[in-house]
Amino acid sequence: MTSLLPATAVAHPNIALVKYWGKRDEHLMLPCADSVSMTLDVYPTTTTVQLRPDATNDVVIMDGRFLRGESSQRVTRFLDLVRTQADSRDRVLVDSRNTAPVGVGLASSSAGFAALALAASKAFQLSLDHRALSRLARRGSGSAARSVFGGFVHWHAGTDYAPDPDFASYAEPVTDTRLDLALLAVLLDTAPKPVSSREAMRRTMTTSPAFHRWLAATRTDTALMRGALRAGDVQAVGEIAERNAMGMHAAMEAAVPPVVYRTSASHHVLRQVRRLRAAGERMWATMDAGPNVKVLCLPGDAARLADQLRRLSHRPVLVARSGPGATLHRGEA
Ligand code: PMV
Repeated sequence: MTSLLPATAVAHPNIALVKYWGKRDEHLMLPCADSVSMTLDVYPTTTTVQLRPDATNDVVIMDGRFLRGESSQRVTRFLDLVRTQADSRDRVLVDSRNTAPVGVGLASSSAGFAALALAASKAFQLSLDHRALSRLARRGSGSAARSVFGGFVHWHAGTDYAPDPDFASYAEPVTDTRLDLALLAVLLDTAPKPVSSREAMRRTMTTSPAFHRWLAATRTDTALMRGALRAGDVQAVGEIAERNAMGMHAAMEAAVPPVVYRTSASHHVLRQVRRLRAAGERMWATMDAGPNVKVLCLPGDAARLADQLRRLSHRPVLVARSGPGATLHRGEA
C-alpha cells in the first residue's frame, strides 16, 4: 500500500568539466564515455510528486503550466520506470518549479530529472540508495545522473560486458579533492536551442569525422581530470575542461549538416577569455549545447573576473559556486 503523502525534492544543475556527448544506447541512456562535472549552487529545481491512484493519466505542471505533447510524454515514460520498480500502476501529479530563466543553458534538465527521480521514488516509497537514484535520473536525462550528488561528480559510462549494462552506469561523488572552483556564466542568449541535444548527439556521432577523435581524447581527459582534481591543480583542471569543450563543439560543427551552437557573440567572449588569460588571469572557458560561455576560475577571483566579463560583453554574468546534491524537502526525509 503506497502512501498518498506528496514528496518534494530539490536539485541543482551541473556543469560538465569533461563532457558527455553521445549515447551508445539511446533507450537506456548509456553514454559513450565517462564524464566529470561540478554541481552548482544556483537555479534549483523543486519538484513535488503526489500519487493519484484513481486517475487515468499523469498530470505534469511545470512553472505553473500544464505540460502537453512530447514533453509530458517524456515525463510519463520516466514515471513508468518508477512504477515498474515500485510495482504500481498509480498515476501522479508532478508540480515542478525551475528558478533558472528559460534557456540559460545551465542544463536545467539535469536538475529537473534529478529532482523528479528523488521525489517520485519517495512518493512510490522506493528505497533507492544514491547509486540507484543516479541510474534512475540518468534515464530521464543523461546529465541528471550527476546532479544527484553535490560538488565534483564522476559519471561512469559502464560497460556493455557487464551482466546488466544499465546497472553499471551511474555517477558518484569525487571525494579525493579539496579544490574549490567558481563558475561565471555569460548569458548571451536565452532563445531555445536550434537543435535538441538528443538530435545533435545522434547527428554528431553518425556524421562527424571528428567525433571519434574527440571521444578517444575524452576517455583520456577523464583520467587526467581526476588527477588534476586530486592534485588541486586549477590550471590543469581549466585547461582540460576548455580543450574538452572546444573539441566537442568542433566535432559538432563538423557534423553533416553542422550542429552550430557557438555564435559570433560566443566567439567574442572566448577571445576575451584567452586574451585575459594571456595577460595572467586564471580563467578557462567551457560551453554546452547553447551559445552561452561559462568560465571556470578560483572563487577569490570570481567577482573581479565577472565584472571584467560584464564590461567586455555588455551581457549579464552569473556567478555560481559548488552546490549540493539532490535532497528531499524538510520534513519528508
Ligand atoms: O543530459 P543532456 O541530454 O541534456 O545532455 C547534456 C550535454 C552537455 O550539457 C552538452 C554536456 C554535459 O556533459 O552536460
